[in-house]
Amino acid sequence: MSKSAPPPVDPQPGVRPLTDREFEKISRLAYEKFGLELKPGKQELVSARLGKKVRAAGFRSFEQYYQSVVADSTGESLIQLIDALTTNFTDFMREPAHFDFLRNEALAGWAKRDRVRIWSTACSTGEEPYSIAFALLDALGNASRPRLEIVATDISSRALQHAHRGIYQAARLANLPAAWQRAFLLRGDGKWQGQYRVKPEVAGLVQFRRLNLIEPFSHPEPFSVILCRNVMIYFDRPTQQKLVRQLASQLEPGGYLLIGHSESLTGIDHPLSYVRPTIYRRSGS
Ligand SMILES: C[S@@+](CC[C@H](N)C(=O)[O-])C[C@H]1O[C@@H](n2cnc3c(N)ncnc32)[C@H](O)[C@@H]1O
Repeated sequence: MSKSAPPPVDPQPGVRPLTDREFEKISRLAYEKFGLELKPGKQELVSARLGKKVRAAGFRSFEQYYQSVVADSTGESLIQLIDALTTNFTDFMREPAHFDFLRNEALAGWAKRDRVRIWSTACSTGEEPYSIAFALLDALGNASRPRLEIVATDISSRALQHAHRGIYQAARLANLPAAWQRAFLLRGDGKWQGQYRVKPEVAGLVQFRRLNLIEPFSHPEPFSVILCRNVMIYFDRPTQQKLVRQLASQLEPGGYLLIGHSESLTGIDHPLSYVRPTIYRRSGS
């Protein structure tokens, strides 16, 4: 008996498989609205990630789903689409060299400042901005200056809701020293057993907002540090170029831009000087 190839797996029963045309339309939409680059090989990913949404909404085809997203004038379906296609993966103290840099080098330059402003541009569920707060508060000790103002933004409303709640499972805190857990988090009991919440006085240092990095943005005051980590990987070069120039314009003279360790500004025309891998600085002081 000859072995025949298994039939193709239907990713979502009851939903017609994603066609090339539908993939093209979804890719164009994701690119225009979010700068997300979906290369031709990403068909399977789109089918798997969006197939669930198509089915859950009771649609029979990706085309029907696409039409419903385009027709939703609130923009919420679009955000959910981008949420499904990108990852919110993050962690406390992810890429720890950046937090050492803030504590051990940047902070020394702010000794005479009343306040410093820091922007976490793709903050996901909040671990990045809270790690900045923990690391700097710990380094400041009893010093009351500089005051920290941390702005944390993301495209994903779901991630921002989580970030704003500031509640994390105990297992998520493995990278935080025990002393920081005691100083900056409240341990839940009763029905909150196994969960920790960022203390209100620490959470109060962080303002969360939704912001799409590929749209024009401008903040009323410049930042001392901008973190733009592990999000540029989704964008093509022209989008990255535009973004880095916009970010540079939001830095104060002498301010720093920190990017993810798998990202690079090589080949991007920008006004910042290179400090070391993943750390750039605007000239001036
Ligand atoms: C992999 S997470 C990175 C989180 C954090 N910066 C870190 O390095 O751990 C990428 C985040 O980028 C966000 N994102 C994707 N496209 C975006 C856009 N156009 N504007 C703003 N945020 C975006 C996603 O919602 C996600 O939370």
